[in-house]
This record gives sequence, structure tokens and C-alpha cells, in this order.
Amino acid sequence: MKLIHLTDTHFVPRGETLYGGDPRAVLEAAVADINKHHSDADLVCITGDLTHWGETEAFESLAEVLSPLTPPVQLLLGNHDNRPVFTACFPDQKCDESGFVQSVRKTSQGHLIFLDTYLEGSHAGWFCDKRRVWLSEQLKGAEEAGAPAFLFMHHPPFKIGLAPLDKISLQEPEAFAAVIAPYADRIRHLFFGHIHRPLSGSWKGIPVSSLRGMNHQCWFDLESEDILSGSFEPPAYAVVLIADDTVVIHTHDFLDGSKKFDIRNSPFDDWAVRYSHA
Ligand SMILES: [Fe+2]
Repeated sequence: MKLIHLTDTHFVPRGETLYGGDPRAVLEAAVADINKHHSDADLVCITGDLTHWGETEAFESLAEVLSPLTPPVQLLLGNHDNRPVFTACFPDQKCDESGFVQSVRKTSQGHLIFLDTYLEGSHAGWFCDKRRVWLSEQLKGAEEAGAPAFLFMHHPPFKIGLAPLDKISLQEPEAFAAVIAPYADRIRHLFFGHIHRPLSGSWKGIPVSSLRGMNHQCWFDLESEDILSGSFEPPAYAVVLIADDTVVIHTHDFLDGSKKFDIRNSPFDDWAVRYSHA
């Protein structure tokens, strides 16, 4: 199974820019690159902050840019979004019975569980009792089906070491962890957004990863307590290859314009001489 993980598109109304960047132009390039090289992907998942201020015009611009995308797309909410505006603009994106933008896709490799950590008026994430009950039911369903699970969410449920971001991570992470705990062995990976940085590791034994956003990034700074420095490191999307015994994640800087060359036939290397088996 091949998934595309992409995050933090931060759309603004068409014609507007954000911090001097053009989120629409970057996503258009990503969509073109995905269609050209990964049209066989089973799903493209965007893990929240679809827009910067949650306006209808921003969601409409996002819908326009996503419309040519060949693989199906799954959209999650982030702290910069607006749930009622989102659901009005994307009526085909599934919600749970309580109206949260949460759903499950049952695939050959397991259940993909998409979570809603949005709390109106807060940049921090929140996962209320209703959402916890829903998640518990989905994990129980995966267990009963004998299926692995993959989690997708915007806010990480753990600290990453950058203080300004840690202040707005998922609140009450212990309560979230308690829902996960009985099923931790079943969860093969947790994908998240929000931090605008490439990151991988594990949380309570569960492999986790995130990646850069589309428009702007958060500069790596473990020292600052209050200032969150933005940057324009290159955007990326991730190509996730899932097999029975592996989850391989390739982070792709799709706008990279550096010269490409044949490493094994380069005049600067004698690869073929040194490694005759290559
Ligand atoms: Fe973001």
C-alpha cells in the first residue's frame, strides 16, 4: 500500500499570500508531482491546518487545487481551521456521529483512523471524552477484525523539545494515552502535523513521524522558550510504503531544483571500477 502524507497547507483566499509565501502555488506543484509520480497511491492524507484562518474562500481555493489530484484525499482539521466552515466546503469528508471530522478507512494493510484534535479558539489540541470513546471503539473494532491500526492526527500527543510548540501540543495527553494503551501493540504508526518540521521517533512504543508544511516551517530551536521562529526551508511530502513487515517513509523535497546526475557513471567517481557487482 502506498500513502502520501502531506501537512499544514495553510491556505489563504486565492490571490493572497502568507508570510510572503504562496501556499496555493506550492500545493499545485505538489499535486502535479504526486499525479506524475504517485498516481498509484491509495490515499493522500493532509494532517490539518488546511487553511490559515479558516475562511470559506480559503477552503474553496484548497478544494480547487485538490480537485485534479488522482488518488483519493483525506483531510484532517488543525488548529488554524474551522470545523463548520470545513464541513460545509467538504461535505464528502466523513464525520463521526457527533460531528467531529473523524473516520476510519479499512484497507488491506489495516484500519486507517483519522482523528479530530480541533478546539475552537485554541492553538493547542484537544481530544474530548466523546472523541476518546469513539477512538476506543475504533481500536476495539480493529482488534476484533485482527487488523493493525494507523493513526493520523494534527497535534502530537507528546512533547518534541521545542517549547513554543510544546505549549500548543495535545492537551491532557495522559487521557489520550490511556485510550491508546490497551491497543498500543496494534498501532503500527502515528502520523501527525502541526510542528512544520521533519521528525521521527516513537511514543510509548508506537513509531511516529511528521514533516515540513507546504508554505512555511518552524526553525529548529531547542533554546527559545517563547519565540517560535518561522523559516522557508523547502516544503516536502512523504511517500509511505506499507507492507506486512515494514512501514517505509520517504520524505520528498519535491521543489528541489538541484542538478540530478547518474551517480554510478559520474566522472567524479569510479563506482563501476571499485564495485564491479554494482
Ligand atoms: Fe500549521
